[in-house]
Amino acid sequence: MASRIPLLCLLGLLLLVASPAIAADDSGIYYQLALLWPGAYCEQTSAGCCKPTTGVSPARDFYITGLTVYNATTDAAVTECSNQAPYNPNLITGIGLEQYWSNIKCPSNNGQSSWKNAWKKAGACSGLDEKAYFEKALSFRSRINPLFASKKMDDFNLYGLKAIKKVFKNGINAEPVIQCSKGPFDKYMLYQLYFCANGNGTFIDCPAPPQYTCSKTVLFHPYKKWMLKQQLNDDSAEFYEAAADPFQLPGLAMDN
Ligand SMILES: *[C@@H]1O[C@H](CO)[C@@H](O)[C@H](O)[C@H]1NC(C)=O
Ligand SMILES: *[C@@H]1O[C@H](CO)[C@@H](O)[C@H](O)[C@H]1NC(C)=O
Repeated sequence: MASRIPLLCLLGLLLLVASPAIAADDSGIYYQLALLWPGAYCEQTSAGCCKPTTGVSPARDFYITGLTVYNATTDAAVTECSNQAPYNPNLITGIGLEQYWSNIKCPSNNGQSSWKNAWKKAGACSGLDEKAYFEKALSFRSRINPLFASKKMDDFNLYGLKAIKKVFKNGINAEPVIQCSKGPFDKYMLYQLYFCANGNGTFIDCPAPPQYTCSKTVLFHPYKKWMLKQQLNDDSAEFYEAAADPFQLPGLAMDN
């Protein structure tokens, strides 16, 4: 099937981390990383998507939208702890969040609310300090290398869920949970991928996977440079096309 070929090409792009999948370690926790496909986000929201005001172009890739720590015994998110360190933006400058944890929500914003929200919701009780928490998310993302977004993906093709999962299974020896959203012609699009890793950072199939409705084949909606607009956060807001920017897309935490 011709539509599968681009996906299979991606295999070559994925890191082959050939460690055996061991579900549990002795840390008692596991991580869940959420990655957003911006092409679907831009398509499905009526406001479209906006270029962040960070001054850094988002990578043309999946964006991180969250890293959550789970209790491996209860599968409950670890959100409470005694010493919640306050969010400090100065601790995480220059580590690459603008590219890979970008907030392309409109109106254009500087991403700080997403990072602050992630820290307060999941990071502060993760057992990691702030910089280590965000670096762990970036490191998981880069090891997954979800760049099956090579240009081949911008072609409105349909891909089988099984084929998508297999691409990652072959790369990191664990399957993502696939979340879809409704796109053009009422077709399901790939919207977010969720990956889990045990306390040692070994990728595992998510122990308590969230359930999402998708069709057996889903659309990879293209993500093009012109889709990212600049919208000022005031009443006279106008949209500008971010035509001058080299296109790279990153990952981002959207506030719900
Ligand atoms: C995880 O790390 C701990 C200590 O760092 C080690 O004892 C354990 O064997 C590791 N587990 C796996 C699955 O690698
Ligand atoms: C997980 O939950 C159990 C039961 O509530 C608790 O005893 C344990 O300490 C928790 N583990 C972690 C790592 O939070």
